[in-house]
Amino acid sequence: MKIVVLEGSPNKKGSSNLLAGEFIRGAEEAGHHVQVIDAAHADIHPCTGCIHCGYEGPCVQKDDVEVFRKEILEADMMVFVTPLYYYGMSAQLKTLIDRFCAFNSSIQGKGMKSAILSAAWNSDHWTFDALEAHYDTLVRYLNLTDMGRVWGRGCGTPSMTKHSRYMKEAYELGRGIK
Ligand SMILES: Cc1cc2nc3c(=O)[nH]c(=O)nc-3n(C[C@H](O)[C@H](O)[C@H](O)COP(=O)(O)O)c2cc1C
Repeated sequence: MKIVVLEGSPNKKGSSNLLAGEFIRGAEEAGHHVQVIDAAHADIHPCTGCIHCGYEGPCVQKDDVEVFRKEILEADMMVFVTPLYYYGMSAQLKTLIDRFCAFNSSIQGKGMKSAILSAAWNSDHWTFDALEAHYDTLVRYLNLTDMGRVWGRGCGTPSMTKHSRYMKEAYELGRGIK
């Protein structure tokens, strides 16, 4: 299966990308082909809401999303990777997701699999409630099939994350993708 990993952290070697690395290691061991889209360092402009695309068509903006669109639509699964920012996903990842607007029906029609990995400083039980509700809604709206989620509580720095149980959780999630 082809998997696209959508990374949304400005920290290339940060906590959420550490979790993504473990997920990828597991998924590749399981025989999947993984491609990373680094949404935080790509040339991606916010959706202007012009609806020139009619929710399914060429986008008037010419940036890296032209290539990412093809890569996402060729994949069988998308994995959202984000640090927790004010209890939601990062603006970098959200900016890419908003650009799905121009290929919304294609995503819905494909019936892709999905997963989410996130890292946060906080470790309260409610830390990921808002992001989880958002992810569940995206799964429902985009006709995705959820394969799992890793909520990295208390993963405030790469060192905290490396020593957390979430590295193993992310690896096992990737290894278990069928
Ligand atoms: C702008 C900003 C907002 C943040 N908001 C939260 C938050 O709402 N809750 C939380 O627990 N941690 C929050 N954090 C901490 C990060 O989620 C945490 O440090 C995470 O490990 C960063 O992941 P990264 O290394 O992949 O960038 C925030 C950090 C930043 C920079």
